[in-house]
Amino acid sequence: MAPPKIVILTGAGISRESGLHTFRDPDGIWARHRIEDVATPEAFARTPALVQGFYNARRAQLRDPAIRPNAAHEALAELDARWPGELLLVTQNVDDLHDRAGSRRLIHMHGELAKARCLRCEGVSPAPGDLTPASTCPDCDAAGSLRPHVVWFGEMPLEMERIGQALEGCDLFVSIGTSGAVYPAAGFVREVRHRADTLELNLEPSEGSHLFDEARHGPATQLVPAFVRDMLARWA
Ligand code: APR
Repeated sequence: MAPPKIVILTGAGISRESGLHTFRDPDGIWARHRIEDVATPEAFARTPALVQGFYNARRAQLRDPAIRPNAAHEALAELDARWPGELLLVTQNVDDLHDRAGSRRLIHMHGELAKARCLRCEGVSPAPGDLTPASTCPDCDAAGSLRPHVVWFGEMPLEMERIGQALEGCDLFVSIGTSGAVYPAAGFVREVRHRADTLELNLEPSEGSHLFDEARHGPATQLVPAFVRDMLARWA
């Protein structure tokens, strides 16, 4: 029997134990910033320096040596390396912890903090530290044209066609560390639940917990390694 085709969705909760704040927990990012001030195209048009500053501060955190992939990121990277069948990790996170842990079959559907996108040529390149009006696009040399390569509210997530294809054919859908508050990611479980097994691994019940065949609650650094160990013991 072929190994199950797996799609894994992660959210900010998987990076919480690495020291990065989530969004909607009491100490979350949206407790300190308003989405309409820092995470919409309108906000960027209205106050570009404020928006750039918000993302520059979060990007600087990723360069802090104390912020590293945790056991959950590492377990998913091991699954990626050893899983004998189809597997796709779709993250809502814009941090680079899955990349640094070694996950390869990975899509950042909300973009990546470490990258910048040119408003002129649409080119995506590594962000040169802080983004300022002096930042120049390495592809078209336009100055002051770089925005964070992060998907803002009201914008289309990235690679939705590839994600839709993976969801269409998956046998197992696992949601890790997400509140299920933001679509289209929050709708993935509804798309697959009539034909795939569905599992939620989260610190506490999310808005969509009732939609999953099984929901395990606890820290990702405990739940995810145990899940990966079990899957590899059975199939690899
Ligand atoms: N282990 C597992 N889950 C955790 C942990 C942990 N240590 N700590 C927190 N969580 C869970 C919380 O219980 C919550 O359900 O992670 C979830 C985080 O939810 P949100 O803060 O809403 O983050 P997320 O679901 O990733 O948000 C989705 O919203 O603001 C936008 O673009 C942003 O990608 C983000 C999207």
